[in-house]
Amino acid sequence: MSTRVTGTAFITGSGSGIGQKTASTLAQNGISNLALLDINTVRLESTRNVLTARFPNVGVEILTADVRDEASVEAAVQKIVARFGGIEIAVHSAGISGKTPDSDENSLANWQKVIDTNQTGVWLCQRAVVRQMQKQEDRGGRLGRGAIVNLSSMFGISVPPPEMGLFPYTSAKHAVEAITKYAAKAHAAEGIRINAMCPNVVDTPMTHNAIKDGLFDKTLDQTPMGRCGTLEEIADSILYLVSPMSSYVTGASLVADGGRTA
Ligand SMILES: NC(=O)c1ccc[n+]([C@@H]2O[C@H](COP(=O)([O-])OP(=O)(O)OC[C@H]3O[C@@H](n4cnc5c(N)ncnc54)[C@H](O)[C@@H]3O)[C@@H](O)[C@H]2O)c1
Repeated sequence: MSTRVTGTAFITGSGSGIGQKTASTLAQNGISNLALLDINTVRLESTRNVLTARFPNVGVEILTADVRDEASVEAAVQKIVARFGGIEIAVHSAGISGKTPDSDENSLANWQKVIDTNQTGVWLCQRAVVRQMQKQEDRGGRLGRGAIVNLSSMFGISVPPPEMGLFPYTSAKHAVEAITKYAAKAHAAEGIRINAMCPNVVDTPMTHNAIKDGLFDKTLDQTPMGRCGTLEEIADSILYLVSPMSSYVTGASLVADGGRTA
């Protein structure tokens, strides 16, 4: 059994960081088409240009949309189906950190923005993709109808030092765990697998300044491997979760955290 992937992959937050790296990892491993969604058109266009130059045989569609907006998410899925015929893989990576001073000083506006993006956004995308996969043929064997990965975090299964100001973020990521496991149980018999990916800190535009300012020093001190994860390590873990290699894995949280939550 190989990590080769087939069909069309829909990746949110793919203008940057983990979503962007996942797109190129799937292209390297056999995907036919990539449907890339982000709120940032400039980042999406540059991602598409890099991918089409490197992987001329892979079809790439970019979709500027806000995962918080139900109609935009539904329209994006319809557009993908019209161009590529279906969705076999989905990776929901769009997210924000929403750092605030502490849980008591957190404003309702910030709380709402983080919950809407990191929690409701994942649920809206998951719901739209599941409905589409249900219409598709079950390919049987180790492929089924499709595989979905939701980006959680090691802070979806543990809590960060409070001074990091990630209270709404952590709350949303814990909810992503529930959204993932609940749907995994509901759709397992339909041949749709749904798992959560839980990385430790990775250097991306979301975290770069915070890493530089030492915000993650305590977390990294508590990490037995003593370092951040790399984009490649996280994208490879996602590749495992969406490939036939993980055909008996659903409702799981794959923790890639250098041992921090062990
Ligand atoms: N970087 C880390 O250390 C780390 C660790 C654990 C989990 N994660 C999770 O991984 C995912 C990706 O993070 P990243 O580090 O690659 O961040 P990133 O900032 O590099 O990329 C996130 C992308 O999401 C897009 N986005 C934000 N809000 C959106 C919206 N409303 N609609 C559509 N797109 C939107 C952004 O434009 C950006 O391109 C996030 O869910 C994050 O919480 C990251």
